[in-house]
Amino acid sequence: MCGIIGCVGMGAETLDTLVHGLSKLEYRGYDSAGVALASPADPTVEIVKKAGELDNLRTALADGGTPAGTVGIGHTRWSTHGPPTDGNAHPHTDAEGRVAVVHNGIIENYQALRDELTDEGVEFRSDTDTEVVPHLVSRNLEAGMDAESAFRDAVSRLDGSYALACVVAGVEAVFVAREDSPLVLGVGEDRTFLGSDVPAFREFTDQVVYLEDGEFARIDGDGFVVSTADGTVVEKQVHTVEWDPEETGKSGYDHFMLKEIHEQPRSLRQCLQGRVDELAGQVTLEELPSLSPTRVHLVAAGTSYHAALYGAHLLQERGIPAQPFYAHEYASFTPPGDDALVVGVSQSGETADTLAAMREAHRRGADTLAVTNTVGSTLARESDHVLYIRSGPEIGVAATKTFASQLTALNLLTLSIAAGREARDVIASLRDLPGDVQAVLDDSKAEQVASAFADSDSYFFIGRGLHFPVALEGALKLKEISYEHAEGFAAGELKHGPLALVTENTPVFALVTGDGEAARKTIGNVKEVEARGAPVVAITDGLSDVGRYADYVLPIPESHPRVAPILANVQLQLVAYHVANQLGRPIDKPRNLAKSVTVE
Ligand code: F6R
Repeated sequence: MCGIIGCVGMGAETLDTLVHGLSKLEYRGYDSAGVALASPADPTVEIVKKAGELDNLRTALADGGTPAGTVGIGHTRWSTHGPPTDGNAHPHTDAEGRVAVVHNGIIENYQALRDELTDEGVEFRSDTDTEVVPHLVSRNLEAGMDAESAFRDAVSRLDGSYALACVVAGVEAVFVAREDSPLVLGVGEDRTFLGSDVPAFREFTDQVVYLEDGEFARIDGDGFVVSTADGTVVEKQVHTVEWDPEETGKSGYDHFMLKEIHEQPRSLRQCLQGRVDELAGQVTLEELPSLSPTRVHLVAAGTSYHAALYGAHLLQERGIPAQPFYAHEYASFTPPGDDALVVGVSQSGETADTLAAMREAHRRGADTLAVTNTVGSTLARESDHVLYIRSGPEIGVAATKTFASQLTALNLLTLSIAAGREARDVIASLRDLPGDVQAVLDDSKAEQVASAFADSDSYFFIGRGLHFPVALEGALKLKEISYEHAEGFAAGELKHGPLALVTENTPVFALVTGDGEAARKTIGNVKEVEARGAPVVAITDGLSDVGRYADYVLPIPESHPRVAPILANVQLQLVAYHVANQLGRPIDKPRNLAKSVTVE
């Protein structure tokens, strides 16, 4: 978490470029924001930083006079060391104000370095781990090193994870280093950028260079040079980003989350494009070799874990032993089975827990496959194979369209590994999926349901089989953006304990599709909660009579049982959004959460 940006070559627009870039990175953290600008003539670096959201920095810049400079770095923070205060905001500097540093990650040996520097008389002004870096650089400058060597030597002292950017007064360059935290360069004609993520500078260029762990870069008026720790220059491939800058705006919606929910028909179309042949009943995933794993482990966190749970269920249905794991558990308690195909599911491709699990799998010699949205992400680059979900950028902290695309991509993966006789029917439903999602969006009564229940004590979500991961996801979405208590349960589990919590103030959202045994049993559970006075909201395709027992029905079109959960989820996304909106929550930036969790 934390977002960093930097630029060289923007002249008088340097400050505006940094602030604009930070607005695109705010989803990575919004505890504080700051900028540092340097120019050849100025003996110190000018720094302005403020606790709180980016608007506080904008106000400080408007009130306090704008810093000038032609080389700059900026930061938006998600706290790991020290509370969100002005003092702990980045950039951090040395005593003389000659060096400024922004950092994403955690410096694990910072206490030892801090003690060493304190013994030498350095006074620290923040509680952060980052502040050791400008002091180390400064000490090296005093010892006679040039700016680049001073930075590289300082980095060599660090243990932990970092994307670091550093400016030094009087030097027209930005120095960067990467270890376990994302960092990408943007290459323009006469200007160069760096960012934690491409949206930081996408307005200015679509040419990008992804840095690898252990790499350093210097960006200056001549462009960029990437090198390894021992100074060997690395030839980097320049990639072209496919998506437009407008895709990162709100396009008239009140929140990114609502925009992204409404983008699902398009993002699902993109996910499916060129991959399904309905006539032949076949899926072709060109980027993958032919896979026939004896077993599959799916590792992921949060919403992506729910997708992994769903994916494991799909594979099991096709007779392939598959298990989902929380990535943080898998990394430490890896189950036996070196013959497993290990699938890392991650929207960002930068989640530290998932990377650690995948690295452990790799270390054990397993074949690894990334299912991710982010081209060039660490997960994508480190995995043996990659299946992109093609959602386009997701800015809202709550994952929405990427979850739908993860479920769709996992359907495609399952069909490509073990098609089965029902493949044609699944493919037909997948083909209809974008249109069916549109139909749900056009006609949803979720706002009305949200109004009816926005002051409830707690919200329960129940579902069986493939609906269970969506019940968990419905609850996670609601709790993370509304701050209300919500739980998802396997419908049959309710009577084994949670039923004790059910009252007339705990609406129960029941996912019921088809008219088979699963539907019949879930309707039995619906009757149990109804008998305890709980209001019931049925998300259903209308094939069963669950509507008779429900206070509200949120309908979805008929679809294949494997695809129906994706449609049901859209109704739950809208319920979560409208409950949070009615409670006045900051939907795109829920407290304590960040879009990309790059620490373990
Ligand atoms: C919830 C949410 C998180 C992420 C989790 C993993 O809405 O977005 O739970 O799903 O942090 O993130 P990725 O998918 O980037 O690995």
